[in-house]
Amino acid sequence: MSEALSPARIMEVGMAFWPAKTLLSAVELGLFTTLGANAMTGAELKRALNLHSRANPDFFDTLVALRFLDRDGDGADARYRNTAETARFLDRFSPHYVGGFLELANARLYPFWGDLTEALRTGKAQNETKHGRAGMFEELYSKPERLEQFMEAMAGISAANFRAFAQRFDFSRYKTLCDVGGANGLLSILVAQTHPHMRCISTDLPAPTAIAAQKIQAARLDDRVSVQSLDFCNDPLPRADVITMGMILHDWNLEKKMHLVKAAYNALPAGGAFVVIENIIDDARRENAFGLMMSLNMLIEFGDAFDFTGADFDRWCRQVGFRETEIVHLAGPASAAIAYK
Ligand SMILES: C[S@@+](CC[C@H](N)C(=O)[O-])C[C@H]1O[C@@H](n2cnc3c(N)ncnc32)[C@H](O)[C@@H]1O
Repeated sequence: MSEALSPARIMEVGMAFWPAKTLLSAVELGLFTTLGANAMTGAELKRALNLHSRANPDFFDTLVALRFLDRDGDGADARYRNTAETARFLDRFSPHYVGGFLELANARLYPFWGDLTEALRTGKAQNETKHGRAGMFEELYSKPERLEQFMEAMAGISAANFRAFAQRFDFSRYKTLCDVGGANGLLSILVAQTHPHMRCISTDLPAPTAIAAQKIQAARLDDRVSVQSLDFCNDPLPRADVITMGMILHDWNLEKKMHLVKAAYNALPAGGAFVVIENIIDDARRENAFGLMMSLNMLIEFGDAFDFTGADFDRWCRQVGFRETEIVHLAGPASAAIAYK
C-alpha cells in the first residue's frame, strides 16, 4: 500500500501558486490581448510588453507548457500565439473576456491570501481594511478605476451563472424581478434579454448603480430594466415577484444574512421566489472545494462573512416563513438556491 502513495498531488497543490502567478502576470501584462489573433516572436513580445530580456523565452515557454500559449517552431524565430481558449476568454477585446476577476485576484486577492494563516489565527480580514481603513466596498469605490475593475471582475465571474439561471429558471408565472446588489446590472440585462415579458430593477449602492444605468442603456433595455440605488442594510427592498441576490449573502455574517432573507421575504408576494446565486457548498461539506475556498476568501475580505450549504439556506428561509427551497445547479461550482413564499 505505502508504495502506491505519491506526494505528487500534495506538491502540485502546494506549489500551485507558481502556475497561478505566471498566468496572473500574463493577464496583468495584457499578453493575451497584445497577441490577439496574431503570432509574435519572443523578442517582439518582450518589446511589446516592455519586459526585461530575462523574461524571454522562459516566461513565454512556461505559458506554452501550461497550455495557455501555442508556439510554432523552436528557438529565437519561434512564434507564440494564443490558444483557442485564451483567445476567447483572456483577450480583453473578446466579448467572452473573463480576465476581470483574474485582474482583481492579481491586484488584491493574491497578496491578501499571503496572510491566510494570520486570518485563521485572528478571524480578522486581511484586505485593505486590515489597517483600519474604510470597509471593502467604500475602499473599492473610492477610486473610479478600482470600481470599474471590481464591476468587471463580478461580471467576469458571474456571467456564466447568470446566463444559466436566465435559461433554466421558469419565469412563465412571474412578471417582475429585483436584483439586489446587482453591480453593473448584468443579471437584469440577461433575464430581460431572455424573457421579453419580464420587467427588472437592478439595485445597488450609488456608484455601481450609475454604471448599471449606462450598461442597460447600451443594451437598449431601459424601457424594461430600471435601476434604483439603495442601501440594503437599512432600506426596504422594492417589491417584485422574484428577488435575486448574486454573491450577496456570502459577504455577511449570520445576523446580516437573516436581515437580508427577511427583507426578501417582506418584498415578495405569496408564490414569489427568492433566488441566491452562489458557490453553494454541498451539504456534506466534502466536495465543492471552490465554494469552501470562497468561504475562506470571505474570511480574508470581511472576517465574519462566510459561504454556506443548501441545508443552511433552507433552515434560514424556513425560519422567516418560506414554504420550500430547492437547489438548481448553474455552472461549475455555482448553483441557484431558491426559496418559495
Ligand atoms: C460580491 S458583489 C456581487 C455583485 C453581483 N450581484 C454578482 O453576483 O456578480 C456584492 C455587491 O453588493 C453591493 N453592496 C454591498 N453593500 C451594499 C449595500 N449596503 N447596499 C446595496 N448594495 C450593496 C456591492 O456594491 C456589490 O455590487
